Amino acid sequence: MAFSFFKKNDNKPAAHVNEKYYHLKVREVIRETSDAVSLVFDTPSKPMVYQSGQFLTLIMQVNGEKIRRAYSLCSSSFVDEFPAVTVKKVEGGKMSTWINDTVKAGDVIEVMEPMGHFTTTYKAEQARTIVLLGGGSGITPLMSITKSVLDQEPNSKVVLIYANRNLESVIFRTTLEEMQQTFGNRLRVVHILDVPPVNWSGASGIPTVDLLSKLVSQEVNEVSKAEYFICGPQGMMDNAENALLGLSIPKEKIRKESFTSTSDKKPVDVVSPSAASGLEVKVIYDGDEHVFTVPSGKTILETALGLDIDLPYSCQSGLCTACRGKCLSGEVHLDESEGLSQSEINEGYVLTCVGHPKSPGVVIEIG
Ligand code: FES
Repeated sequence: MAFSFFKKNDNKPAAHVNEKYYHLKVREVIRETSDAVSLVFDTPSKPMVYQSGQFLTLIMQVNGEKIRRAYSLCSSSFVDEFPAVTVKKVEGGKMSTWINDTVKAGDVIEVMEPMGHFTTTYKAEQARTIVLLGGGSGITPLMSITKSVLDQEPNSKVVLIYANRNLESVIFRTTLEEMQQTFGNRLRVVHILDVPPVNWSGASGIPTVDLLSKLVSQEVNEVSKAEYFICGPQGMMDNAENALLGLSIPKEKIRKESFTSTSDKKPVDVVSPSAASGLEVKVIYDGDEHVFTVPSGKTILETALGLDIDLPYSCQSGLCTACRGKCLSGEVHLDESEGLSQSEINEGYVLTCVGHPKSPGVVIEIG
């Protein structure tokens, strides 16, 4: 998957080189479909630990503009020697178009550390059924999870229900066929094609609630005991979640990785009238203390970036947690908190990309 937000102020120079970032050399570019490639990176010079389901944020200069965007890892650290991401070209997508058309082996790309909570813990003694519902490039983290489950849990099974426009647009089609041969009945792949070829005997049409509900009921033995992971376009994800809820799957067994924020909330002016011109915040990051005034209605991150303060971020929509910090004092209002767990919220974590100071004396430490 890829988050679909670009940083607005990215054409400004970074305040300093961020030592936390990686510089990964592209080892190989694999053409997966006519509009999707996988970038396989050489082993990083400093150790990079990642979990299946996580993503990398790539930072690139595209036509003179510095852009960052998050792409899920398709590789599994248990199975693959090298980390890899898959990038599908999206209409009007500067970074995805650039990567599909221009990036070649030998190029070096600046990359933030792996992030994301769309993960699970693997235990060899577990015997579970993992049901993955994916659409389009949403297969990317699901592929990584599939590899890890099959490799790490010999008694577990994977059911992948995968929706695409047509056969040609199915990312990892050949790899999935090979994996089915290798793993037999431990891996079941069910394709849904919107425009199927002649003589197609599989599922077809758009992945509606009814269709997904029917397929899950057909393919999964004990529906209530399985664990579910959903990643794809928002409409497909909503249908998948509703299908599962309709089958009485408890919400806590349904994991989702969103492409975009579902929130239509606009940033709220949370500043009191007496502080209408803004409130001062202190952000501690990478050994530096940055003190600046956040104007009413602006987020902490966008204010910092406007001042050339190099804070970490990726999606800028409250989903990826790349900008997460702990609020040590004062109060912060979040326009969106989908990316944070309840325990993180209880511990005082905030997201600077959707955060506004709500009181004087806000101090945030990004660690
Ligand atoms: S940048 Fe992704 S949650 Fe803030």
